[in-house]
Amino acid sequence: MTANLIDGNALARKIRAEVAGRTAALKAKGVQPALAIILVGEDPASQVYTKHKVNDSTETGLDATLERYPADMSEAQLLARIKTLNDDPAVHGILVQLPLPKHMDAHKVIETISPAKDVDGFHVASAGALMVGQPGFWPCTPYGCMKMLENIGYDLRGKHAVVIGRSNIVGKPMAMMLLQKNATVTICHSATKDLKAHTLQADVIVAAVGKRNMLTADMVKPGAVVIDVGMNRNDEGKLCGDVDFAGVNEVAGWITPVPGGVGPMTRAMLLVNTLEAAERAAG
Ligand code: GUN
Repeated sequence: MTANLIDGNALARKIRAEVAGRTAALKAKGVQPALAIILVGEDPASQVYTKHKVNDSTETGLDATLERYPADMSEAQLLARIKTLNDDPAVHGILVQLPLPKHMDAHKVIETISPAKDVDGFHVASAGALMVGQPGFWPCTPYGCMKMLENIGYDLRGKHAVVIGRSNIVGKPMAMMLLQKNATVTICHSATKDLKAHTLQADVIVAAVGKRNMLTADMVKPGAVVIDVGMNRNDEGKLCGDVDFAGVNEVAGWITPVPGGVGPMTRAMLLVNTLEAAERAAG
């Protein structure tokens, strides 16, 4: 038996339609939700990502502005620009695309963004809010994974979730969100000894390592939900995840594809966070 596919494209489409409806309602009250995206330098991938973010926003009725600056912009100039955006009531979300040029301290830059406008959910205030269960902004990728679990009606209470990867923007917040839903959570990473012994216990596996085929069929309990956050290239240069899809598809109960899984959900959740920021500001 093959696993049920969790279609990220279809769910993201549904979420974008919901965002469009809520945006129209907010506009009717005289509030235009607005996102400021800052791109410093010429990183080719970042140029593509930021273009997608602008297009996604405008298609759902959000106002998105892409501010492009040269790679030799000073950190002081960037911080000053962020402070101006913080003080601008017409701007609800601020996103500084990463990576930043090497002469900049990304932590310092992110911490300069007002937590009320931190739609990436990268600020320590956002991480802290998630940790203590207060309203804040959840990072878009793990937030999208949670929406996928919600959409298939999966009850996490008492289940064992294994998150592989401990990044500040995926692994750690993912674990916290799962814990909030009363799952038992194990966080593993690339140095975990006998990873298979952990994953075989899991009802839910979230793979976020950045290494193709790191999760294979022999590591998955029959019927488990497998969420693939990886974004890698195979030998033919095609996009693939961390999961050996063909093999795991024969064992898992549910599986997300790459492409068409977590990726579109990450993009959709940025729109949700931006709208949420505008709704909170509107009161
Ligand atoms: N670079 C790659 N992904 C992201 C993201 O989600 N947000 C930001 N700010 N930069 C990124």
